[in-house]
Amino acid sequence: MTKRINARIAGWGKYLPSRVVSNDDIARRASTSSHWIVERTGIYERRFAEGDETNAYMASRAAMEALSRSHIDIEAIDRIIVATSTPDSLFPSTAAVVQHMISAHRAHAFDISAACSGFIYALAIAKESIESGSCKCVLVIGVETYSRVLDFEDRDTAVLFGDGAGAVVLEAGKGEGSIDATTLHTEGDGGNSLYLPCNGTIRMRGRDVFRFAIRALCDGLQSVADAVGCSCADFAVVIPHQSNIRIIRSAAEKLGLPLNTFVINVDRYGNTGAASIPIALAEAADDCRFEHGQRIALVGFGAGLTWGAATLTWPYEQGRINGYR
Ligand code: ACO
Repeated sequence: MTKRINARIAGWGKYLPSRVVSNDDIARRASTSSHWIVERTGIYERRFAEGDETNAYMASRAAMEALSRSHIDIEAIDRIIVATSTPDSLFPSTAAVVQHMISAHRAHAFDISAACSGFIYALAIAKESIESGSCKCVLVIGVETYSRVLDFEDRDTAVLFGDGAGAVVLEAGKGEGSIDATTLHTEGDGGNSLYLPCNGTIRMRGRDVFRFAIRALCDGLQSVADAVGCSCADFAVVIPHQSNIRIIRSAAEKLGLPLNTFVINVDRYGNTGAASIPIALAEAADDCRFEHGQRIALVGFGAGLTWGAATLTWPYEQGRINGYR
């Protein structure tokens, strides 16, 4: 029997700007305190892009790291999908600029917008394009430069967001270790809880988004568990969108999962939107947090309102980070 083509992660990478912005730095501009930020969000610091660190530059750096881990030739990339809500320009897309920056001449490239769920939406498109046979190798990137769309007088949002990029290379395979399922969900009637007008700054009804985020994290994980016929307790590691430690804690309690199942780096980077899941994935993979054959879940939620979840089986032996070939 011929095995079905599946999509699996062949490489991962991240890029964080070097400028570290502490809570005290934020408190100098907004009416807040480091103590409040740590207590109510779990965030200690975040990174802000400077000068030449454009959205496309950060995306390209994360992409190059993911490609070098994968040992896949740049010419092999068929498609580049960038998830971002903070492109440098509406056109050309960030993806088209990345295509040029990394010299991926064969690839076609486009952006998608689903805020903090964007990386999962992009992963779902990439998975389907590989499984259908239309692509063999897809670069999926999440990137945000939120520091350029923050109103530092609005303490609700100024404390939360940071900049960065994460990327994965997906390749067609027939062996073990695939993206097993993705589930996507949109509640457009909640759009005014969290929005970023063109040429404006982020606006948010924090408490509404907070309640939605806990529900979305739980529903997303449950839906992707249902899709593969397992329970949430079967996820060895969960990589949630990083927005507030209290959201992750509440969801973990509701699902009856120990907090150490969750990859958490919101303390160091804040909310990096579409970049947060691939950054956390890259860090966890580099830390050898995953073991061969483990079921891993990714779950994003954010403006739209949207959520999305994915589950994959980790194909690599622990410590063997340079690819299962
Ligand atoms: N600094 C100091 N005090 C503050 C701040 C602040 N930054 N913000 C609110 N407060 C005060 C309020 O005035 C209030 O004071 P009071 O009790 O005297 O009235 C108190 O703190 C509590 O206010 P809440 O609004 O209830 O604060 P909450 O605990 O909900 O935290 C927060 C606010 C951090 C914004 C939270 O609601 C949150 O994390 N929301 C979700 C954000 C999110 O997850 N976004 C994800 C998607 S992002 C995307 O898709 C782009």
